[in-house]
Amino acid sequence: MSVLEKHLDEQDLARSLRDDVRVGLTATPKSLPPKWFYDARGSELFEEITRLPEYYPTRTERSILREHAGAIARITEAKTLVELGSGSSEKTRLLLDAMLSRGTLGSFVPLDVSESALSSAVDALGLAYPGLSVTGVVGDFIRHLRRLPDGDGRVVAFLGGTIGNLVPAERSAFLGDLRSVLHQGEWLLLGADLVKDPGTLIPAYDDAAGVTAEFNRNVLRVINRELRADFDPLAFEHVALWDAEREWIEMRLRSLRDQRVHVAELDLDVAFAEGEELRTETSAKFHRVGLAEELAASGFALRHWWSDPQDWFGVALAQAITT
Ligand code: AVJ
Repeated sequence: MSVLEKHLDEQDLARSLRDDVRVGLTATPKSLPPKWFYDARGSELFEEITRLPEYYPTRTERSILREHAGAIARITEAKTLVELGSGSSEKTRLLLDAMLSRGTLGSFVPLDVSESALSSAVDALGLAYPGLSVTGVVGDFIRHLRRLPDGDGRVVAFLGGTIGNLVPAERSAFLGDLRSVLHQGEWLLLGADLVKDPGTLIPAYDDAAGVTAEFNRNVLRVINRELRADFDPLAFEHVALWDAEREWIEMRLRSLRDQRVHVAELDLDVAFAEGEELRTETSAKFHRVGLAEELAASGFALRHWWSDPQDWFGVALAQAITT
């Protein structure tokens, strides 16, 4: 059985896009939040990124989950698996299979902002797992945590390294909010990309085929369509840089010339100088110890940690404890 619950209707989405674009394009330096990459085309481009030779996180995390899904199912005895920012829910099948064969799991609740990605995932999972109750929640993992079904025996999976899209203050707010919706003893399964050689990190965000560049520019296409703007996406070049101090990757779009952009829906004119950069994403990278400390500060105890032989990606299993 599968259903879709919408906590974000078109109007909510349109309003938060307008707010984000107005704030981000009038700020210095200019920035946009990464969640607006993911319209139908952006979600497809992201899927394409996950198959690139340079983009190691998805396949590395998948291999970790493949190896340890049985242990995760045994340790958590999950009754409900919640997945935040689930996208296509592809890696989730490893967890669902393990939890179902353990016999504890009754329901799966994927939450994602992208209705297109979510509704196809929910339909496919409903067919593949006829005994499982699947409830897709169209929502934002920052704003809609409280809309998740209450229960006990929940495991909240936040995979793919998406935690890295949050800067430290946002992470502690998010982890604190998540802790407050969970009962003591419930679980967080967190996938985090790890700090490594910039020679490996940077190409993962600046691939030879140019797919990430297209993904990056897609945010301009989204704004053109949704807010009747006139960005020329090809007048911006893709930039990926490693901030060694803050230990995050930044993606930016660099204006190739002096130009003005009109955003009709906002009645806004924006000037870009040649070389001016618009920040579109931060993707933080972690160390096990630092992540354990952040988790502890928000009321989660790190119980298990798994990584790949190269230590490129980590999967943390943390339990909600009393604070
Ligand atoms: C989906 C946020 C985990 O930061 O690696 C991929 C998005 N951006 N290539 C990441 C992304 C550029 C991805 N996350």
